[in-house]
Amino acid sequence: MVADGVGQSHETDDRVKVVVIDEDERHTLRTDPGRTLRDVLLDADCSPYATVTRRLNCGGRGFCATCGVRVQKGPAAEHWHDRLADRFGYPRLSCQIVVEEPMTVSLVDKRVWGGRKHGDDEGVGEGACDDESTG
Ligand code: FES
Repeated sequence: MVADGVGQSHETDDRVKVVVIDEDERHTLRTDPGRTLRDVLLDADCSPYATVTRRLNCGGRGFCATCGVRVQKGPAAEHWHDRLADRFGYPRLSCQIVVEEPMTVSLVDKRVWGGRKHGDDEGVGEGACDDESTG
């Protein structure tokens, strides 16, 4: 709570806004700062993975390069892979991006390892993003 100087107090929301673009859909998530983008996306059912790599990945250690997203607006790249990806226009590793400031990211269509699920598609990939809070 924060007093506004006229005797009123307001709830403060220190959570960080993350806008996720998934094809033609746009979702707004809010999360506590300091979490990896990968975890924020997974908690909101906005998986950065394809069907197979959702289960077969390095668990966020920065080794498998399967958690890529396109960062439209966000922090500068720090991880070596991210710096190269940023430089050459490839997706950045969501597991190596810590959410500390508002950002906008686009999910990448990953057909090589199985497509992500959209709407009522059967049996492939993950569901659509859940807007709002992710923890
Ligand atoms: S989860 Fe393996 S590189 Fe991000």
